[in-house]
Amino acid sequence: MNNITIQSPQTSRLSSVDFDNLPFGEIFSDHMFVADYRDGKWQDARVVPFAPITLSPSNLALHYGQSIFEGMKAFKDKDGKPMLFRPEQHAIRINKSAHRMSMPDIPEDLFMDAVNTLIGLDHAWIPPKRGSALYIRPFMFATDAVIGVRASKTYKFIIFTGPVGPYYSKPLNLVTADEYVRAVPGGVGEAKAAGNYAAAIYPTDLAHTAGFDQILWTDNRDYKYIQECGTMNVFFVIGDTVVTPNLNGAILKGITRDSLLTLLRAEGTKVEERPISIDELIEAHKEGKLIDAFGAGTAAVVSQIQSISYKENGEYVKMELPDVKSRDISIRLKKEINDIRARLAADPHGWMHEVKVSSPVMG
Ligand code: COI
Repeated sequence: MNNITIQSPQTSRLSSVDFDNLPFGEIFSDHMFVADYRDGKWQDARVVPFAPITLSPSNLALHYGQSIFEGMKAFKDKDGKPMLFRPEQHAIRINKSAHRMSMPDIPEDLFMDAVNTLIGLDHAWIPPKRGSALYIRPFMFATDAVIGVRASKTYKFIIFTGPVGPYYSKPLNLVTADEYVRAVPGGVGEAKAAGNYAAAIYPTDLAHTAGFDQILWTDNRDYKYIQECGTMNVFFVIGDTVVTPNLNGAILKGITRDSLLTLLRAEGTKVEERPISIDELIEAHKEGKLIDAFGAGTAAVVSQIQSISYKENGEYVKMELPDVKSRDISIRLKKEINDIRARLAADPHGWMHEVKVSSPVMG
């Protein structure tokens, strides 16, 4: 166990939270974890009250984006015990992102001790309601105060948490990207790098203005091969087969994506990870074979897609998908994963990790 000092706030803000009306990502729990990287190692691991931090205006991350994050969740099981979903996968993935961005590794035991200590202290912030969760945001960013373009020598690793409701409140109307791209193979699309999300904001704003909810991202050469949708991995059900784009270096290796593929394969559903083009979707839709589509991610879990639009001769053509209530696979997968998280169903893959609760430490 790493030595993590703990200082709790004088008073908890918990009683001010309306757990029946949780927005996504606007409410933050009492504590946060912080560690500093300097002289080649992580030091001063500590839990402190959630509060603003100060940075030099010349902070390297602010200028050149050496900044990565994870998104993970804690749940209460049916007996009220705090549980983490596949935390070790997030520890592995943050280091893959770190490697791509020339940032230092976070030892897996430090990551796990930090998450467990934090959730142990703030377990009462985990919302009890199905569909809600305590969102956990681990992130690491450069802290050198220098504006030369190079890898920083110092970093901060912070984790904070907050109770969240569903990320999307309704099924999504997507528009296919035909001008902007999210990521390219060889770029940083596979990493959870802050800049990936920044680059998506302007095209997403344009999509909103045109009346769509999110973008169905495509490849950079032909705007043809599907990559992701919004901030999620994407799945299509064509006939009796579930198809998702194969990981090609531009697509995030989603942990929810992997979990859904595992569930589908375990139940014997036909699954294909392969390139899938918008032309194939159009064809499948014409033949009545595009029967379900959904995004998958930690924040959004399983989010159904209502329609997919694409441009033909300068005009939008909208493909309406079957009524979301009539869908089989997306409804079933969402229930299965929520049941495993609440420990209402067996956990044959060992995804759930119980967290030991602890009490605040007053300084
Ligand atoms: C997640 O699903 O946790 C993500 O990272 C998406 C986030 C941008 C809200």
